[in-house]
Amino acid sequence: MSEVSHRRTPPEVSRRRTSPNLALNQLVEERRAAGQEVLHLAFGESRLPAFAPLAERLARGAHRNAYGPVAGGEPVRRAVAGYFGRRDLPTGPDQIVVGPGSKPLLMALQHVLPGDVLVPRPAWNSYVPQVRLAGKTAYEVPVPAECGGVPDPAALRDTVRRARAEGGDPRVVVLTLPDNPTGTLAPPALVRQLCAIAEELDLVIVSDEIYRDIVHDPATPFLSPAEVAPDRTIVTSGLSKTLALGGWRIGVCRFPDNAWGLAVRDGVVSVASEVWSTLAGPMQEVAAYAFSEPEEIRRRLAASARLHGAVARSVHRIMVDAGADCRPPTGGFYVYPDFEPMRDRLASYGVTDSPGLQRHLFDSHGVLVLGGHHLGDDEGALRFKAATSMLYGDTAEEQEQSLAAADPLALPHVARVLARLEEAFVKLSR
Ligand SMILES: Cc1ncc(COP(=O)(O)O)c(C=O)c1O
Repeated sequence: MSEVSHRRTPPEVSRRRTSPNLALNQLVEERRAAGQEVLHLAFGESRLPAFAPLAERLARGAHRNAYGPVAGGEPVRRAVAGYFGRRDLPTGPDQIVVGPGSKPLLMALQHVLPGDVLVPRPAWNSYVPQVRLAGKTAYEVPVPAECGGVPDPAALRDTVRRARAEGGDPRVVVLTLPDNPTGTLAPPALVRQLCAIAEELDLVIVSDEIYRDIVHDPATPFLSPAEVAPDRTIVTSGLSKTLALGGWRIGVCRFPDNAWGLAVRDGVVSVASEVWSTLAGPMQEVAAYAFSEPEEIRRRLAASARLHGAVARSVHRIMVDAGADCRPPTGGFYVYPDFEPMRDRLASYGVTDSPGLQRHLFDSHGVLVLGGHHLGDDEGALRFKAATSMLYGDTAEEQEQSLAAADPLALPHVARVLARLEEAFVKLSR
């Protein structure tokens, strides 16, 4: 009998490597086992404990062992609709689907939305693989100088025109507000400009707003494309970042309230019904509580945003003092420095590109970052992402202290790691 074709590895799978984050975690473990101190800033996780009232809800939901509706039960969808309503996006529960993280919801969208996809460069490292897994083409468009998370408007127009002239069919643009990896938020004027281009070129907008509630300064204006272009914008969010619940897997998706939006919702529900069935019942209990935003949740979010801001600004200063260009962080917990101004100095250490910079920081200074090449950026550039949320302490107790402190930078366990980071970057720039 000849070899059957279905036993061959599908091309999209054989082309994929394991997510770089996992490989890096392994490296860190090896070094730590060998007794070396490593500052691990390569993982996009909010290193904070689960808030006690959330754990209580989870326990209270343990009896919810039935499958339940695929889109999520009415109570959780109503709570999520209320959350969006309080953010100038009037929403009915029928416009909401909840799922096990926003990642599978984003993947389902890639399956359901027709056409190729425009993604900012650099961007969160799952967008492009998801587009490819869905059998589509990803067009990576550079971000503007002022902020990340969105394509530069002129470059977006050019890319769509060129792609269409060459037979491609870009129909979807992904925005990240605020952004991973740059830790910045596109200002309202830019969001309006991009929405106008989306209207002009007939693009669907997928607005990933998973970091929305941890914009550092509550006075910073946030404009969702769903306010400007409500008929063509799908919003995703979740609790992984804002409430540090990545491992609990709670994501949400908001669809436009029109025939097209509800058809896309039905498509996502159809994918969900074949892949994950529904968000786990106990998690729906947690989500219904968190998205209804009682006072204690609002206080927790405000404290988290303050802490993320204080530490991200401190790391930003360390990078700038070491000679990097770096956009000031305004949301989430990342900085994305560019060491181009230090190219000659770094070349003297044999560092000429982003893999080399990542390797040198790890091997010579015990600092692990994620090179920009993992995020779609030019390999020849000298950029990386540092997740500053890894600096809040090693234990839940230290992390709670960091959250509660008026000046977290003055806490010995935070001051110590920041001093260690500073020392590494002072040495790098010498
Ligand atoms: C921009 C962005 N979107 C989506 C996700 C996925 O989050 P989750 O699947 O935990 O909701 C992440 C997580 O790293 C992210 O950074």
